[in-house]
Amino acid sequence: MKVTVLGLGSMGTALAGALLEAGHETTVWNRSAGKDEALVARGAARAATAAEAVGASPLVLACLSDYDAVHGLLDPLAGELRGRTLVNLTSGTPEQARASAAWAAGHGIGYLDGAIMSTPPGIGSPAIMLLCSGSSQAFAEYRETLASLGDPVGLGDDAGAASLYDTALLGMMWATLGGWLQGVALTGADKVDAVTFTPVAIRWTAAVNGFMSTYAPQVDAGVYPGDDATLDVHLGAIEHFVRASAARGLDPALPELLKSSIEQAVAAGHGGDGYARLIEAVRAGGRA
Ligand SMILES: NC(=O)c1ccc[n+]([C@@H]2O[C@H](COP(=O)([O-])OP(=O)(O)OC[C@H]3O[C@@H](n4cnc5c(N)ncnc54)[C@H](OP(=O)(O)O)[C@@H]3O)[C@@H](O)[C@H]2O)c1
Repeated sequence: MKVTVLGLGSMGTALAGALLEAGHETTVWNRSAGKDEALVARGAARAATAAEAVGASPLVLACLSDYDAVHGLLDPLAGELRGRTLVNLTSGTPEQARASAAWAAGHGIGYLDGAIMSTPPGIGSPAIMLLCSGSSQAFAEYRETLASLGDPVGLGDDAGAASLYDTALLGMMWATLGGWLQGVALTGADKVDAVTFTPVAIRWTAAVNGFMSTYAPQVDAGVYPGDDATLDVHLGAIEHFVRASAARGLDPALPELLKSSIEQAVAAGHGGDGYARLIEAVRAGGRA
């Protein structure tokens, strides 16, 4: 397969490397000179211009800093891109992805928007997800090639879906890592190393995954039975988290935030409901 990679920052370089590793005929281009040298030494073709790079392959991957950079580069090359497929792996908002898909459709360019759920060292592993949305025809045609980068996960025809999921998943990552750091600080204050605490924390996340599976249909149905643990029970338990954190002089922000969301729902009369009831406050801008 002939593939072009535009943008050889940390991520673009990893993408081009994985394509070469998988045996694809890979053409590379970067705005600043010099970043392609190691890839060329491994067999990549160096394009002198972005237009030459686009013309070299039916499949063009773009991985630049942001969508403005993508359009600054590719709007003048719409003619060269006509009849080819652009996979935009640049991070952005769902709205930017949808606007790019409309632009591509207007120029006869196949378009997939992608979100890479990894840092560069993970590229090439089937364990990482490559979220893809947009043209289902392009996804079917290039799925196997994209599998050289990670596991392609198709999210349907709405080009904005990959960015939407990406944003939601990164939010989840920050919240999870924030909770883990609070746990590390709490246990660390009593002389438990992070490397001792973490395997236990990882086992616990398996149980938390189970809670999400239980709560997802409740959220969709808008019915929150408190048959596993009620918000009243959570409020009693989270008080220990607040107190133990305070007793060790830790940042109270996260425990207080989580406690206050439960407290408000209980005050609004939902103490007998399950934890999934808190979705109502999230959706209502924080009001229980
Ligand atoms: N790194 C990660 O872990 C990761 C993970 C998932 C998604 N992403 C996303 O992947 C994209 C690239 O990330 P990265 O880590 O590779 O960033 P990076 O190392 O900063 O590379 C940015 C790339 O964009 C190019 N660029 C910026 N403005 C440009 C312009 N106006 N015209 C042409 N080229 C331009 C840069 O070219 P020059 O070399 O000439 O500056 C460089 O090739 C971002 O959207 C990022 O959010 C990154």
